[in-house]
Amino acid sequence: MQKYFLLPLLSLSVLLFVYDTEATNPPTAVLDLSDKFLDVKDEGMWFVEFYAPWCAHCKRLHPVWDQVGHTLSDSNLPIRVGKLDCTRFPAVANKLSIQGYPTILFFRNGHVIDYRGGREKEALVSFAKRCAAPIIEVINENQIEKVKLSARSQPSYVFFGTSSGPLFDAFNEAASSKFSVARFYSVAPPENDASFRQRVAVFKDNFEIEFNGDIEKLTEWVTRERWPGFLQATSSNLAEIGASGKLVVLVVSSESHKFNNTSPIREFHKTAEEASKELRKHPDLWNRFQFAWLDGSDLASQIQMAAVSEPHLFIFNYTSYEYYLSEDEPSQMTIKSILTFLEQTSEGIDKETIVAFGGRHLLTRIKRMAFELYWNIAQMFATQPLLSSCLFGVPIAFLSIICYSICSADFTVDRDEFYGDEDELIDDEEGEETEHPETDDDHEKAE
Ligand SMILES: *[C@@H]1O[C@H](CO)[C@@H](O)[C@H](O)[C@H]1NC(C)=O
Ligand SMILES: *[C@@H]1O[C@H](CO)[C@@H](O)[C@H](O)[C@H]1NC(C)=O
Repeated sequence: MQKYFLLPLLSLSVLLFVYDTEATNPPTAVLDLSDKFLDVKDEGMWFVEFYAPWCAHCKRLHPVWDQVGHTLSDSNLPIRVGKLDCTRFPAVANKLSIQGYPTILFFRNGHVIDYRGGREKEALVSFAKRCAAPIIEVINENQIEKVKLSARSQPSYVFFGTSSGPLFDAFNEAASSKFSVARFYSVAPPENDASFRQRVAVFKDNFEIEFNGDIEKLTEWVTRERWPGFLQATSSNLAEIGASGKLVVLVVSSESHKFNNTSPIREFHKTAEEASKELRKHPDLWNRFQFAWLDGSDLASQIQMAAVSEPHLFIFNYTSYEYYLSEDEPSQMTIKSILTFLEQTSEGIDKETIVAFGGRHLLTRIKRMAFELYWNIAQMFATQPLLSSCLFGVPIAFLSIICYSICSADFTVDRDEFYGDEDELIDDEEGEETEHPETDDDHEKAE
């Protein structure tokens, strides 16, 4: 009895301890945290916004964050929502290596998950719920179909068997490190089934792939398989896609041609999508390549440091920033020729017979920076000609005026200082120079 009475009291005192008493905000479900947060961050679940008062993005986020607080406290999940002013408590920001504002982190028993998604309430709440869900959800045989359906947008990993043994331990470990980006389930074996064997599989894009590597490699495999077969790549997720350990086959397409039946871009997009499905039948290629498509050619142009036009396809290694091009004209490529291109590239890399473009060498990096600058300015002029002209025109005009005045001022000063009143004399000499080369010397001496 006493124990049950003490527990809420204890947690209340923890909360009061952490709660920043100086805050005089109206009642909110969001706790104003102080540097005491460091003492309790590893206990239970916290969803925290780290902000600075001067940051405009943070100000925009605050009302949304309040709503997130209310929604999560209504949901009865054991998640505490808080915010922390990093300018008042820099020690916390230091300890947690907060680089920018706002930074949104979820703390689950000491495990920190960085939030990188959109700043809408729904996205934030669903992220928090996902982080708070049991790492491995136990389901029964009948629920598998439902998991398969939900796995269309996000891969789901399933362990079949009793929750013990080395394979389960490896699965548990993979789940603990990846639970924020994928769902993990376990299904108990059916009773009296002699042929049953333990296994791990991933459901994605309407099919199932079984894990058949070394048990130690399970987490690596989970990382590799965490993306749908043909997803949209953007500048914000490309690094993460690259981190899967696969080479990315980037298809340059365009969202605006999605419903245009006569567009060759749409035609190529579909061909590439079919090729990404076909990939499944070639385990070697499957383990090595991940398909993704880009809306528009900007990102591709920046990677290749040249203007790329849709449709286009190339293979990209994010780690080394190297890319490989096919000899075929992209618009002429078929499913078969795309796969052949992948095969040849794969072989070429292994045998070191292939030429990679790009890279991360110093010279390439400088070139890329220069290109990005040029590209961004060119884009600005293309999309906002008037604004860009003002933006660049006005300072350039000012600079020219300043340069002009400095130069012309210097010129007059020079002439006055050095030649003084003897302008006319020099003019005369210049006119007669060829005839009397010695006059100049005479003149100087005379001075
Ligand atoms: C990308 O390039 C680096 C350096 O050459 C290499 O170590 C790595 O294996 C490549 N990545 C892939 C997925 O092949
Ligand atoms: C569809 O694509 C074709 C070929 O690129 C283009 O000429 C046409 O204008 C597009 N139609 C629409 C409605 O965008």
